[in-house]
Amino acid sequence: MSEISLVGTPEWQALESHAKTMRSIHMRELFENDPDRFDRFSFKLGPLLADYSKNILTLETGGLLLELARACRVDEGRGAMFAGAPINSTERRAALHAALRRKSDEPLMVGGQDVMSGIRVVRERIKAFAEEIRSGKIKGSSGKAFKHIINIGIGGSHIGPMFVAQALESSEPSSLTVEFVSNIDSAQFNKVAAALDPEATLVVICSKTFTTSETMANAAHAKAWLAKTVGAKAVSAHFAAVSTAADKATAFGVSKDRIFPIWDWVGGRYSLWSAMSLSAVLARGYDAFDQMLAGAEAMDKHFETAPLSQNLPVILAMIGVWNINFLDFATHAILPYDHTLRGLPAHIQQLDMESNGKGVTVQGAPVTADTGPIVFGGGGSDSQHSFFQLLHQGPRVVPCDFIAAISGAAGSDNNRDVLLSNVFGQSEALLKGRNAAELENVSDELKAHKTFPGNRPSNTLLLDEISPYAVGMLLALYEHKVYVQSLIWGINAFDQWGVELGKELAKGLEPALSGNTKAVAALSETGNGSTIGLVNAYLAAKNAAS
Ligand code: F6P
Repeated sequence: MSEISLVGTPEWQALESHAKTMRSIHMRELFENDPDRFDRFSFKLGPLLADYSKNILTLETGGLLLELARACRVDEGRGAMFAGAPINSTERRAALHAALRRKSDEPLMVGGQDVMSGIRVVRERIKAFAEEIRSGKIKGSSGKAFKHIINIGIGGSHIGPMFVAQALESSEPSSLTVEFVSNIDSAQFNKVAAALDPEATLVVICSKTFTTSETMANAAHAKAWLAKTVGAKAVSAHFAAVSTAADKATAFGVSKDRIFPIWDWVGGRYSLWSAMSLSAVLARGYDAFDQMLAGAEAMDKHFETAPLSQNLPVILAMIGVWNINFLDFATHAILPYDHTLRGLPAHIQQLDMESNGKGVTVQGAPVTADTGPIVFGGGGSDSQHSFFQLLHQGPRVVPCDFIAAISGAAGSDNNRDVLLSNVFGQSEALLKGRNAAELENVSDELKAHKTFPGNRPSNTLLLDEISPYAVGMLLALYEHKVYVQSLIWGINAFDQWGVELGKELAKGLEPALSGNTKAVAALSETGNGSTIGLVNAYLAAKNAAS
């Protein structure tokens, strides 16, 4: 469906008109009028319980949203994704992250080639490499067993894999430590490296393109750091790489048998299912990673086969569309309460905002409805003591996802009752609020300050336990939710042209910032006044210091 027609469709119009009624309803009434609301608006799938009853919606809303999903041919879109169709239209590629967790022996043909055989080979290679590093069979150049991993990458080659390493941290403990470095400011690498023995350190360079400037700068820095101790000739024994560009990784100095391929049909923010999670696998073991793949595959099967009305990614996607487009809630907070899931907000932020932060449709026409939300978040416990104030009493409504587990990771069960009481209490406070009549012993002048409007939507995603399997399901749930929303808005969730302009301009400014007089002169002729001022301030300070 083209975007122009989207807002004019009967399905969209029906939702617009329904929203007018729903805007005057408080969720308190919805719960009071329906004792079975929780049963009606919650969903248990394997170890995952999704409670979406605390949203400003009724069965009628659900029916209308389903009509919209049907009109936008969500079923066709999901079929196209699993079949390997080139749904990343601007790059003419498939988006086959689901194939990375597929265990079936059946071939999956893309462009006349079975992608599954390559995936299986790489899985085996990762597994074997991890076993050899973890057992100490593969050693550093001076004969020391590896004790430390430094993962160098950025964006999807950093945030997702770092989340995986954290989420699996209670699995198969090993003596290997893992650190993630992404910032081009070498202070980060230096701080990490200062605490490590280079002779016992393996550096994993993760870059789909092997051209990203932050990653290349950090990789060069790591090489120099290693060379100082192990000698320039021996550094290759301390590197591994994950990339589509094996030639570039080889040219950098990584041995061929230490280069793990990924494929152009894996988007950066979807690459954690691939060898991009090598550092996490090295530190946490292949079995945990494999269980995570199995959980994601279970969610894939559900998404692929369940009818739209009983399809969890579709349900959460359509609730998001309802909140964004019909109730005008522009943001979305991701609030994990388990410490092992602390990397989730950053990962979902990239997943959602890089996928659906688009202003044109697949056909290249401007979108006329709002698309992806502004996603932010943080660990629930800490966030309660910082930005929750705005969530409860600020004039703008922020729909929230509360994420927690009934049984936490090993060693985290002691405070579980208190942890979950906070999860359930906070979402109830957002739902109910507190009106002046409910205040006791509060002076008149403080009454307005101590009331809460409530009627603030949230989903609660409650896992049975923090297991790799459940984590895999959770991540795949968000991926498919984001894709379904892109189908509604008619946008391409799998490209990211919006990050290019800034990168290009930064590259163009490098000569001027390094003091090249011609470049400085050219900038002052044609540059933007603010940029000229900032560059001059930097150069003046640099000159003064030299
Ligand atoms: O700048 C955005 C981006 O292209 C992301 O999509 C990607 O995850 C990241 O950069 C890193 O890219 P690469 O893996 O090629 O270094």
